[in-house]
Amino acid sequence: MVQATGPSDGAPALRIDVLTLFPRMFEGPLDESILARAKEAGLVQIDVKDMREQARDRHRTVDDRPFGGGPGMVLKPEIVFAAVEALEREPRTRVILTCPQGRVFDQAAAVELSACPHLIFICGHYEGIDERVREHLVTDDFSIGDYVLTGGELAAMVMIDAIVRLVPGAVGEPESTRQDSFGEGLLDFPHYTRPAEFRSWRVPEVLLSGDHGAIGRWRRRTAILRTLERRPDLLEAAVLSSQEREWLQREHGWRSG
Ligand code: ADE
Repeated sequence: MVQATGPSDGAPALRIDVLTLFPRMFEGPLDESILARAKEAGLVQIDVKDMREQARDRHRTVDDRPFGGGPGMVLKPEIVFAAVEALEREPRTRVILTCPQGRVFDQAAAVELSACPHLIFICGHYEGIDERVREHLVTDDFSIGDYVLTGGELAAMVMIDAIVRLVPGAVGEPESTRQDSFGEGLLDFPHYTRPAEFRSWRVPEVLLSGDHGAIGRWRRRTAILRTLERRPDLLEAAVLSSQEREWLQREHGWRSG
């Protein structure tokens, strides 16, 4: 199979700008493994910028007390607008705010965003961000789950990791992203390696059989059963054949809808 690499003009397939008040948090996670290789190969370009550089006063103020009172501080709109407007944007640029109120990020969102040419991440912080940013600048807001982090930086890193590995060429074998958990709306099947027996626990015999048809069927069946057991909510939208649906209903008591 011919593997896709970056675009032929040498420009990265995906440009990512991260706007944060804590740029040092990104040192490390973006410089290891697949992300580092994707950057080195020129498939993605990731720039992290400190929003505090946009502060114009002596104290480099980026936040202020909330109108109406209450605890905490709110990120000022002019800081975020200036940081975004300093970037080179294009019509398909997505301006993403990471915050607990956003749409929950999932594999479908990762696939969608990996096909965009340019992403800007605004990492929310403090008590929040002035709502005019969300209303007039942001195109998408995303949460990585129903819990509150100290800021949007870790959420942005999680999203960037999930998105970049889907850029063609970033992962060595394209097959391995196709077979991901959630690829067809199912959890992944179990994996084993040598030794075939470890502390008396044997690998399922079918995996040693060399019968690739039987192995494929076993993997499919275990992926479906795992999903039924652990994440039945995913099965509704999963890509299943009518035979698989009937089998789940007949032998495992699954009721759709
Ligand atoms: N900022 C704080 N909590 C968050 C979450 N769960 N997802 C995205 N950004 C956040």
